[in-house]
Amino acid sequence: MEARRAKAVAAATVLSLLVPLLVLLFRFGHTVAFFVVLAVAFVAVLGVLAWVLSLYTDLSHRQLSLARRSVSDREEHRVEYSFLRKVAGLPIKFRLESLAAATDGFRCLLGRGSSASVFRGVLDDGTAVAVKRIDAIAERGDKEFRTEVAAIASIHHRNLVRLLGYCVTPGPRFLVYEFVANGSLDRWIFPSRDAAADAANGRCLPWPMRHRVAIDVAKALSYLHHDCRARVLHLDVKPENILLDEGFRALVADFGLSKLMGKDESRVVTTVRGTRGYLAPEWLIGSGVTDKSDIYSYGMVLLEIVGGRRAIQVTEDKKWSYFPKIVHEKAWQGKALEVLDERLNREGESPPEAELRTMVHVALWCIRDKAEERPSMARVVDMLEGRIDVDEPPPQSEMLIYNILEHSVLDAEATDDRRAAAAAAGLLDLGPPSSAPGSIEVSLSGR
Ligand SMILES: Nc1ncnc2c1ncn2[C@@H]1O[C@H](COP(=O)(O)OP(=O)(O)O)[C@@H](O)[C@H]1O
Ligand SMILES: [Mg+2]
Repeated sequence: MEARRAKAVAAATVLSLLVPLLVLLFRFGHTVAFFVVLAVAFVAVLGVLAWVLSLYTDLSHRQLSLARRSVSDREEHRVEYSFLRKVAGLPIKFRLESLAAATDGFRCLLGRGSSASVFRGVLDDGTAVAVKRIDAIAERGDKEFRTEVAAIASIHHRNLVRLLGYCVTPGPRFLVYEFVANGSLDRWIFPSRDAAADAANGRCLPWPMRHRVAIDVAKALSYLHHDCRARVLHLDVKPENILLDEGFRALVADFGLSKLMGKDESRVVTTVRGTRGYLAPEWLIGSGVTDKSDIYSYGMVLLEIVGGRRAIQVTEDKKWSYFPKIVHEKAWQGKALEVLDERLNREGESPPEAELRTMVHVALWCIRDKAEERPSMARVVDMLEGRIDVDEPPPQSEMLIYNILEHSVLDAEATDDRRAAAAAAGLLDLGPPSSAPGSIEVSLSGR
């Protein structure tokens, strides 16, 4: 505006000097009076030009400092905003270049699951992180990314892994987690093929830590089921998704398959993509999942923590070994100690019998076929911490999965129903004992 006014004044001045000059020139020719007026006009034009120039310089200075101020204001807001998000524990957005720099080009692989690869990294401020790159094909990867962010972006518990940030690219999506020093639980409870190396590395979790891990996980699940605004179903509870920090405290991780459940919803009908061996029977019959489905998987994990073995294994003579059935029988015979991981059975190291018995009984209650017979996660915490007694194991029952195995689903005579149920439970095509269980995908919708 100011610039336009200056231009108008300048033009008016020049014109008002030019017109008398021309009149003088035509009237008097090249006389002294004409040159005097010309000189005066020249000086006046110079003056006006100098004034316009100073006006412009002043204006551009002002504009420049305004622009600078707005950039610094924006930067200040950005810093303040990310500070507030950080303080509030909300995940922040990362750029792909920062993640590539933090992980040194995605070099150090920490682990790989069914849909993602996880790399170790260090942020600029020195925070150790685990960067999860979701490799699953576009649509599924995007769904898992959104599900995982939605489930844990705004919830906090000392036994849940912390999501620090995320990064969206046209290709894979990334989630940035706090780095958990001792990796996943499976590495600490299942013997590897090299027993000597396990002993040398101390890779066998002692009983007190196993007991504490069991309580930590129960507390995390209890929080998800009872204390969040929307109930969160994890739906993939297994040792690979439980991480151990430097003090061997457990953190529940991997919310890629989780579901949010409204407080007034009683069950969720969903496409099942759990992990073989940990799926609750209600998934087989397609009656939807509830928090009790997590409790079933938790019970299986509890048994694996006690026994130091997978719940379902193929023996050397190609038969099934179903650990829950063995444990149930031993518990009824009062011989719970016999199911303990034999590496813990050394003199002086074996657990207090009452503690072991409680853990075994709780596990057996959690894996009841009928969901309504399983205890809530809050009750499980009370049982494990000794506020509620569980002196008795649950009564004998069918154990659906055992029945399926017993009638060998691999038999040619097995009915189609059994085969379908077994496939849904992930019992067909089970890998060798030491291999990690993979994921299966079975759609139960419409059943
Ligand atoms: N925050 C972390 N710190 C250390 N290791 C991790 C972390 N997150 C994941 N891992 C490792 O990566 C593996 C796969 O991660 P996960 O989130 O379960 O991926 P997926 O969704 O593919 O199963 C885990 O079993 C664990 O060994
Ligand atoms: Mg996982």
